[in-house]
Amino acid sequence: MIRSVVQGCGAYLPERIVTNEELAKKVETSDEWIRQRTGIRQRHIAADGEFTSHLALKASERALSHAGLKVADLDLIVLATATPDETFPATATKVQSALGMTRGAAFDVQAVCAGFVYSMAVADSMLKNGLASTALVIGAETFSRILDWSDRGTCVLFGDGAGAVVLKAETGAGHSADRGILANALHSDGREHDILYVDGGPSSTRTTGLLRMEGKEVFKHAVVNMAAVVGEVLEKAGLTPKDIDWLVPHQANKRIIDGTGRKLGLSPDQVVVTVDKHANTSAASIPLAIDTAAKDGRIKKGDLVLLEGIGGGLAWGASLVRW
Ligand code: UT7
Repeated sequence: MIRSVVQGCGAYLPERIVTNEELAKKVETSDEWIRQRTGIRQRHIAADGEFTSHLALKASERALSHAGLKVADLDLIVLATATPDETFPATATKVQSALGMTRGAAFDVQAVCAGFVYSMAVADSMLKNGLASTALVIGAETFSRILDWSDRGTCVLFGDGAGAVVLKAETGAGHSADRGILANALHSDGREHDILYVDGGPSSTRTTGLLRMEGKEVFKHAVVNMAAVVGEVLEKAGLTPKDIDWLVPHQANKRIIDGTGRKLGLSPDQVVVTVDKHANTSAASIPLAIDTAAKDGRIKKGDLVLLEGIGGGLAWGASLVRW
């Protein structure tokens, strides 16, 4: 059996930190409101001239180094982003070139905040089907570029960042066969377009557009869909919530994260939370949280890790990984 096994991870956050207090000087909000409703304390914002591909490159170099692999080992890049450098070509190909990778395939996946779990599932399928052997899976975003900075209902919620993991196809027997991605589940429901979207695009308006969200509606869907999809992925793998060591959820809102953890019967210290440090970084949030928990020694080889996320589309999904 072929399994897509995590070899290493990396992350990068832009230098500039914007605190809630700083935002409160620009829009009518407060540190207290933002912390109580979302758990966010600060976000990182990319510098002028710093693009999604630049953040992705830094996270990728760190992931490769952590994995102990070289660029020459890679034959696939799957990059999840809703904020590409350009409409085309894929930002993944810019990362490919910047890394000095001259073979294999590189492309973007567009599933907004569910982009990282979608990309893990896509890369996993390709490795299992022999289309590639070693994949860099990246989530990278510069949401600061698509925010309406006069809309307090959205501009306080998002930030910029990138994270990456390296997956390698391994064929093994015994214990080694237990590691890797065990199951994925993906869903979308295009009827919910209007509750989270960007009001522009090359084909519709010839502009980039800005993010629009009915937060309360998204919140309701998030709570219900996250509970369902984590149950689905556990069932696919023949496991139960008791088997989970770590929940690494999409970092949008601490209240949604806590709710999912509670429904699974996990103790709060089994749930990785980083939303306070970087706000909602869309496709980058899960690999940013993975990197934190893997590097501080929480996630160890052999642990069962549940990844889940939901965002615009609506699109949502989960991935169950034996680290
Ligand atoms: O990553 C993609 C997935 N996205 C999400 O998961 C986001 C899901 N939604 C959420 O996280 C929450 O719905 C929000 C954090 C966006 C909002 O929290 P809420 O508890 O649903 O608040 P609300 O939208 O119902 O707003 C409550 C009040 C409103 O005032 P009134 O009508 O009660 O007078 C808002 O106008 O809070 C007001 N408000 C603010 N006040 C201060 C909205 N934004 C702000 C703000 N500062 N930034």
